[in-house]
Formats: sequence, structure tokens, C-alpha cells
Amino acid sequence: MQPQGDIALIGLAVMGQNLILNMNDHGFTVVAYNRTVSKVDDFLANEAKGTRVVGAHSIPELVAALKKPRRVMLMVKAGAPVDEFIDQLLPHLEAGDIVIDGGNSLFTDTNRRVASLAARGIHFIGTGVSGGEEGARRGPSIMPGGSSAAWPHVKPIFQGIAAKVEGGAPCCDWVGEGGAGHYVKMIHNGIEYGDMQLIGEAYHLMRDALGMTADEMHAVFSAWNEGELDSFLVEITRDILKFKDTDGQPLVDKILDTAGQKGTGKWTVVNAAELAQPVTLIAEAVFSRCVSAMKEERVKAARKLKGPRPAIRGDRAKFVEDIRYALYASKIVSYAQGYMLLRAAAAEYRWNLNYGGIALMWRGGCIIRSRFLIRIKEAYDGNPKLANLLLDDYFRGEIKKCQKGWRNVVSMAAKKGIPVPAFSTALSFFDGYRTARLPANLLQAQRDYFGAHTYERIDQPRGQFFHTNWTGHGGRVSSSTYNA
Ligand code: 6PG
Repeated sequence: MQPQGDIALIGLAVMGQNLILNMNDHGFTVVAYNRTVSKVDDFLANEAKGTRVVGAHSIPELVAALKKPRRVMLMVKAGAPVDEFIDQLLPHLEAGDIVIDGGNSLFTDTNRRVASLAARGIHFIGTGVSGGEEGARRGPSIMPGGSSAAWPHVKPIFQGIAAKVEGGAPCCDWVGEGGAGHYVKMIHNGIEYGDMQLIGEAYHLMRDALGMTADEMHAVFSAWNEGELDSFLVEITRDILKFKDTDGQPLVDKILDTAGQKGTGKWTVVNAAELAQPVTLIAEAVFSRCVSAMKEERVKAARKLKGPRPAIRGDRAKFVEDIRYALYASKIVSYAQGYMLLRAAAAEYRWNLNYGGIALMWRGGCIIRSRFLIRIKEAYDGNPKLANLLLDDYFRGEIKKCQKGWRNVVSMAAKKGIPVPAFSTALSFFDGYRTARLPANLLQAQRDYFGAHTYERIDQPRGQFFHTNWTGHGGRVSSSTYNA
């Protein structure tokens, strides 16, 4: 009998299982395999019962069940397990076969894997898959990159199972060479960290400055989800605030305030530093999770370090509206920063990224899906070379509407001692970006004073460097100019 399998999937945790069932729904025959083989039979007897999913109990059996070119997708933990499975697969694959990694792998690992498999004639795709359990089952956002020769062979499967938005457009398209797909997923996750932090700050202000109950905040998030902030994360926040524990009290109030993280936000920030891009909001979001994790220390510090009382008097409804402005404007800044990093990465790693296309891929299925993303797509469709989203006419107008409320929230939070690191870094970035003359002239003078690092002058062409003997006893020799 001819092999029937269209694609194999290794890793039967919840994401893997749901992707298999989704592929099955779209008419593909999937071969399922798992390191702990008993899980394969368990899956076939339960979740996959009555489907055309084929179980494999070994790698050779999995490979033998596949049509050529063989397509094998890994949904295993990022890091060493990906390399281990690749090593197990390689002896059984032949030139032209395709290995796909659908985990949250570091893009530099994907670069390495694409190159090392290419040397053996095997195509490698590193793809972001976003949307959690539900997305995997009903339609995730899929961000594939790597060996472009493999794309036509996986396109019908990936675009078939991906979420669809306006006009049936799939939230999946080819991102680029090497680790580009995983890179775009990393930026997605960084932006996800930023969005979550912004929502957290809005919640914190409503809870502590305005003394609002979970039910009252539920109503606010419900209303917000009807406007520009309409998004998956605002929607689930609305539902979380309504959710009651077994004793009838809001469950959210009983959850310990210490956040976990698996590393994709941190990777974004490390990469931003490497590419000299001021992605300050995601950085604050990552560090805010770190501050939250210092729970015991914070509890002790709270007894010793006193600040102002948080309560705000005055027009509550107006302040809630100002918080909405702060959240919306900060979100625009966060996406502008994320896209700055994408542009820098495209230049550095020689990827031809389609910025509007990326916004469309995030428009549905994924964790950051939102109404807002269509505006980003429109901005880049209108001007693919747009230097910064903040300069787009639509976003410029939106920020203008928000500015007063945003500034009020940041200053009130400072006065009342409520931390709003993401709201305030967004505002500082916005003010820095629109300031023609920053104080870096003084900084350059300091560098030249203590280390002869030289400076450029406003009255001389760019690229000419000067050194001054500031103290009268310094030497004439300056240090060489270079930028890290
Ligand atoms: C997604 C998510 C997912 C990620 C979680 C947890 O797109 O479906 O980004 O890939 O693993 O959000 O991330 P943290 O544990 O780092 O918060």
C-alpha cells in the first residue's frame, strides 16, 4: 500500500494534539508520534477517535507512513529536544524532505538548523504558532520561515488550518529565510508581554487609585473591547474579572501577584539591545515581571518604604477615560517600537520582511490579535517604507487625541505612588522621539572630557569628530571613534 500520511507531527502535548485535529478537520492525513509512545495509543483511543489520524510507534514507522517529500513537524520543547529529534529523524530522511519546528525556538537556533540541514539536502522550516490551545484547534496564526523551497509543500496545510480574517485571508504567510519566522514570533511574544503589562497597569490604577471592584472593572473592559482596544487580551481580561471562585469572590483577587516567564520577552529585549533599538516598553514589561517575582522582598519593603496614599479623588469616569487614552497611546508606541526592531532585523539579517503582511498574520488567531492591527496593515500598505508607525497620519491623529489623558495618568500615578513603568516609558519614548535637541550634547562632552571620546559639532558636517583639551592638562591624542 502507498503511504497515506500528508504530514507527521511529533509531540502530543496539548498544542500538538490540537494542531493534528485541526489538520485532520481540513482533510489532511496526519501521522502522530510521541517520545512516550503510550501517549500515541491514548490519543488515538480518545481525542483522535473516529478521525483519520495514523499512529506511529517509532521514527522509522513514522517516516514509512509519509508521502514524499516527507513533511515532519516537531511540536516539542524548544532547545535540546528539537536537536535530539532532528538527529533521530535524519538517518531516515532523504534529500527534499522537510522538517518543521513549530515550537518557540530562538531564531539563531533556527538559522543554525536551516543551514546544517540544507547541507544534507533537507529543508528546514522554523515556524511561530500562536494562539494557545484554542488557536491550535480552531485556527492559529502561523509564521513560517526558513528554507523557501519547502514553502509550496507546506503552504496548503498551514494556510488551510490558520485563522482567517476579512475576506477569508489566512493568518499565515511566508516570512523569510533562516530564522525569520521564529524571529517574527519572538517579536509577537515581546509585544504580547507589552500588551499584558499595559492592561495590568490600567487594572492597577482602577483597583488602587479608584478603589474599583472586579465587577466594576469588568464593565470597563467590556466597554473598551467595543472600541479601538478591541482585542483578545482585553476580552479575556474582561472575562477574568467576572470569574468567581467557589466562594463567590473574584478569583483574580486570590491569585498571587508574581509573574512567570519562559524567555521569549527577554530574547526580544536582548536582541533589541544588540540591534541598538530602543524597545523600552517590552523591556519594562519583562523587568516588571522580574519585580513582581520579588514577592517576599516587596512585602518586607512595603513595611519600610513609605510613599503617598494611592486614592484619587475627583471625577472617576473621567479618570477611567484617561486610563483608556494612556493604554491606547502606549500600545501604539509599543507596536511602533516592535516594528522598529523588525526593520532593524530585516536590515541586519537581510530579510525582506513584509510589514503589512506581518500585521495581517497577527490580525487573527494569535494572542495579540486585535482590531488595531488592521490599521498597522493599512499604514504599511500605504507606505511600505514608513520610517516609524508614529509618523503615519492615522496613528499621529490617534496619539494627538490621547495625549492629554495619557499625560494626566502618568503624572497622577507618579503623584500617587502607583508604578506605571510601561505607560511612562511609552510617554518618555514619545517625547524623546519628538525632541529635535536632546541633552546628549552634554553626554558627549562628558565622554570627551574623561576619555577623549570625541564629539561632532552642530556647526560642522556630520562625520567630523573633534576633541577638546577640557582641563588644559589633557593630551592631544583622542581615542578612536566607533560605535558598539
Ligand atoms: C502564543 C504565546 C505562547 C507563549 C505564552 C507563554 O503566541 O500562543 O505567545 O507562545 O508560550 O504566551 O509565554 P510566557 O510564559 O513567556 O508568558
